[in-house]
Amino acid sequence: MNKILVTGGAGFIGSHTCVELLNSGYDVVIMDNLCNSKEAAIGRIEKITGKKVKFYKADICDFDSCCKIFEENEIDSVIHFAGLKAVGESVRIPVEYYSNNITGTLELIKAMKKYGCKKIVFSSSATVYGMNNKAPYTEDMPTSATNPYGYTKVMIEQILRDICVSDDSFSAVALRYFNPIGAHSSGLIGEDPNGIPNNLVPYIAQVAIGKLECLSVYGDDYDTPDGTGVRDYIHVCDLARGHVDAVKYASEHTGFEAVNLGTGKGSSVLEVADAYGKACGKPIARKIAPRRAGDIATSFADASKAARLFNWQAKADINQMCADSWNFTKNNPDGIK
Ligand code: NAD
Ligand code: UFG
Repeated sequence: MNKILVTGGAGFIGSHTCVELLNSGYDVVIMDNLCNSKEAAIGRIEKITGKKVKFYKADICDFDSCCKIFEENEIDSVIHFAGLKAVGESVRIPVEYYSNNITGTLELIKAMKKYGCKKIVFSSSATVYGMNNKAPYTEDMPTSATNPYGYTKVMIEQILRDICVSDDSFSAVALRYFNPIGAHSSGLIGEDPNGIPNNLVPYIAQVAIGKLECLSVYGDDYDTPDGTGVRDYIHVCDLARGHVDAVKYASEHTGFEAVNLGTGKGSSVLEVADAYGKACGKPIARKIAPRRAGDIATSFADASKAARLFNWQAKADINQMCADSWNFTKNNPDGIK
């Protein structure tokens, strides 16, 4: 039995993971309310893989909708991406974030328990390392948060830990993603944010395609080699592969594990802008702007636990990530339609 329920499967990381799952021989059922994605992404997953996907347009906060999916499909494991993810927005509308992300996860887990599904892989984030740890981050460091979005990740990890303590046949893997960028090499799926992007690479992509004029570099006076922020960018296809490995691990082990998915290497804002300029064939216009509130200087993973547990390692470098992002952006200047 190899059927995986992918919540949030129409979104950026979810769609790439569905491709990887289908290519690895799994059956995929997607549950997504499309609040931050388009149904067209499902057709594109099918086009890339040549395989069919069962799609439910439904909300994880609705227990009955969750149950209907377990009723109609023999689900072996869940990969749980569905959630709201904009840090700034979470500060403005915290109730929506706690309700969607935490209540949604609890309703989903209640349905899993009702139908005897005991394996979950959850989208956590490097944001759980907070402001007080020093990179490279290891999974045993204390977790904390500085905004409601981050707190939802810390709390959901705790909920999963508690469930595994209460039921020793339950298996939960929280994957702590570093900074996912890039796109599938087909150029058919990629990141398609609404409005003006907050994150670095989606913003640069819009400068490259001519929709935005100039990148604001948030601070050049950090304690880093060139003064700009350093992050561990990871190709979304490497990340997707990590989910297939995590599902396999969860099917063979019980208990809770938190696992970093990153390359272990940091790149600065200026290095990313330069790599993107090479990929698209023209320099990315930039200006130095003040620091962004809440940002840290440096974040990168110690990725040795993923290597040890899953035999997983990131492969793509920053040039490949930028080339694939540009390929998607130029083929889909108005996003996925
Ligand atoms: P995304 O917004 O592209 O995908 C999330 C998907 O979940 C969307 O398709 C959205 O429509 C769906 N969704 C949201 N709330 C839902 C609900 N209540 N019911 C059903 N569907 C719902 O985001 P992404 O970048 O693919 O991120 C996926 C997950 O990974 C999220 O949980 C996010 O917090 C986490 N994550 C993302 C990043 C990143 O930088 N992209 C980093 C760390 C962690
Ligand atoms: N940056 C700019 N200009 C921009 C956007 C970003 O200079 O227009 C800089 C930031 O200051 C930072 C770096 O680019 O130094 C990366 O910023 P992102 O917004 O792309 O990513 P963050 O590391 O701030 O945060 C992201 C997600 C979080 C997640 C975290 C770890 O937004 O939700 O990665 O996974 F928690």
